[in-house]
Amino acid sequence: MLTSIKTNEFAGSESKKLAMMYFRVAIILFGAQLLMGLIAAIQFLAPGFLFEVFDFNVARMVHINALVVWMLYAMIGSVYYLLPDEAGVETVGVGLGKLAFWVLTAAVTVVVLVYIFIQVGPGKESTIWLINEGREYIEAPRWADIGIVVVVLIFYWNVFATYMKGKQTGILTVLVADLLALAGLYLAGMFFTDNISMDQYWWWWVIHLWVEATWEVFVGSLAAYGLIKIIGAKREIVEMWLWIEVLMLFGSGILGLGHHYFWIGTPEYWWEIGALFSALEPVPLVAMFVHVLYDWGKEQGKAKAEGKEGAVMNNGPAMAWIVTNAFGNFLGAGIWGFFHTLPQVNIYTHGTQFTAAHGHLAFFGAYATILIGMMYLGVQGAYGIEKLRATFKSKMAIFLITFGVIGMTIALTIAGYEQVLVERAELGGGWSAFFTAQNLPWYVQAQMWRTIMGVVTFVGFVYLVWDLLTIGKQAKQGAKAA
Ligand code: HEM
Ligand code: HEM
Ligand SMILES: [Fe+2]
Repeated sequence: MLTSIKTNEFAGSESKKLAMMYFRVAIILFGAQLLMGLIAAIQFLAPGFLFEVFDFNVARMVHINALVVWMLYAMIGSVYYLLPDEAGVETVGVGLGKLAFWVLTAAVTVVVLVYIFIQVGPGKESTIWLINEGREYIEAPRWADIGIVVVVLIFYWNVFATYMKGKQTGILTVLVADLLALAGLYLAGMFFTDNISMDQYWWWWVIHLWVEATWEVFVGSLAAYGLIKIIGAKREIVEMWLWIEVLMLFGSGILGLGHHYFWIGTPEYWWEIGALFSALEPVPLVAMFVHVLYDWGKEQGKAKAEGKEGAVMNNGPAMAWIVTNAFGNFLGAGIWGFFHTLPQVNIYTHGTQFTAAHGHLAFFGAYATILIGMMYLGVQGAYGIEKLRATFKSKMAIFLITFGVIGMTIALTIAGYEQVLVERAELGGGWSAFFTAQNLPWYVQAQMWRTIMGVVTFVGFVYLVWDLLTIGKQAKQGAKAA
C-alpha cells in the first residue's frame, strides 16, 4: 500500500499552480499580520508609539483582518491543491479560477491600502461602503464584500463541477458540503442593523460558526488528505474518522455558539445552551488529536515491522506541522477555550487578555499550523519531489514560531489572570478598574514578554519564508546528485 502513494500524479497541473498563487499571497499577508501585531504589542507598552499616525485600533484591525484573509487564501489554495488528486481529474474552470484570483487580490490590496492610509471615516453609510464595515475580523467595506461573494461563487463552482466530474471521495464530499456552509455564513456578516445586540448576534454566526464548526471540519479534511499523502494512511480509516469528527464538530460547535450570547442582550436560556454545548466542544478536538497521532503511530509501526523505516514519511516538514496542528488545536481551542466557556467563569474573564491568549493559541494551533503544512505539500508538488526532508531552516521555523506563540499565550494568560483578580474580582470591573489593572507590574511585564515572544515568532516566520523559497530547489538538486 505504501509504495502505491502517488504524490505527484498531478504535479504541475494548472490547479496546483493556482494553489501556489494563493499560497504566495497567503504568506505575504501572514507577514503583514505579524508586523501589525508587533506594532499593536509595542503600543501596549508605549501608548504614544505612532499615536495619531497609526493608532492601536488600526494596527489591531489590520492584524486580525490580515489573519482571516491569509487563512482564507491558504484554504482556497489547499482546495485547489488537493482537488485533482482526490477527484482524479484536473480541476474544472481553472482559467476562470485564475481570473478570480487576480480580482480578489486586487480587491484585497485596495482594502489594505484604504485601511492603512485612510483608516477611518465618518459614521455614515459611505464609510460602510467604502472604508470599513466595523465588524471585528471581517471589517472589509461592502463593495469588497460583494466582490468576495462573486469570487467565492466562482471558486465554489469550480470545486463542485470537479467533484461531479471526477471521483466523489469521502474527503471531497465533506469538503463540498462544508465549503457551502462556510461561504454561506459569510452572508450573515454583510448586512447592517443599528441594534448592537442584533448586529452582534449575526456577526457571531460568521466568527464562531466559522472557527468552531466549518473551519474545523475543513481542517479535518485537510488532515485526512495529508495523512494519506504523507504517511500512506489507509483511506477507509481516515475517512471513517473524518465522518465521526464531522458529526461531533457540528453536534457541539453549532449550539456552542451560545457562549458568545451570554452578555450581549440575548435571552438567558443561552447560558445553559452555551455552557453545555461549548463544554462538549473539546471532545471532537480530542478525536482529531487521536486520529492524527494514532494513524501516524500505526503506519510507523507497520513500516518498522516490514523493515522499511522511512518509507512512511514523504514530507517531513508538512507532517511536523500536521502533528503540531493536532496538539495546537486541542490545546488552543479545546483547553484554552474550555477554561473560560462556562458562564460562571466567563463573567470574570470576558474580554480580558485571557480571551486574547485563547484567540492566539487557537487560531495558530488549529489553522496556521495545518495551512503551513499544506504549503509544504504545495512546494513538494511544484518541484515534483518524491521525498521532502526537513532542513535546518524548516526546524528553526517550526520551533521558533511554535515557541513564540506558546510564549505569547502564557504571557497573555498571566495578564488575563491579573485582570480577573484585580480588575474584576477585587475592583468590580468598570473603567477605572480596567486602567488600574493595566498599570500593575504583572500586567506590564506580561505585555513585555508577549512582545519579546512576538519577535521570536517573527524570526521563526523569516526562517519559514526562507525555507519555503529554497527547500524545493535544494531537494531537487539533492535528488539529482543522488
Ligand atoms: C479553532 C477554534 C477556535 C478559535 C480559532 C477560537 C478563537 C477565538 C477568538 C479569536 C475569540 C475572541 C473573539 C473576540 O474578539 O471577542 C474567542 C472567544 C471565545 N472562545 Fe474561542 N476559538 C476556538 C474554539 C473555542 C472552543 C472549542 C471553545 C470552548 C470550548 C471556545 C471558547 C471561547 C469563549 C468562551 C470565548 C469568549 C471569550 C470572552 O468572553 O471574551 N473557543 N475564540
Ligand atoms: C508577532 C506576533 C504577534 C503579536 C506581537 C501579536 C499581537 C497582538 C495584539 C497586540 C493584539 C491585540 C490584543 C488586544 O486587543 O488586547 C492581537 C490580537 C489578536 N491576534 Fe495577534 N499577535 C501576533 C501573532 C498572532 C498570530 C500568529 C495569530 C494567530 C495565528 C494572532 C491572532 C490574533 C487574534 C485572533 C487576535 C484577536 C484576539 C482577541 O480579540 O481576543 N496573532 N495580537
Ligand atoms: Fe466560540
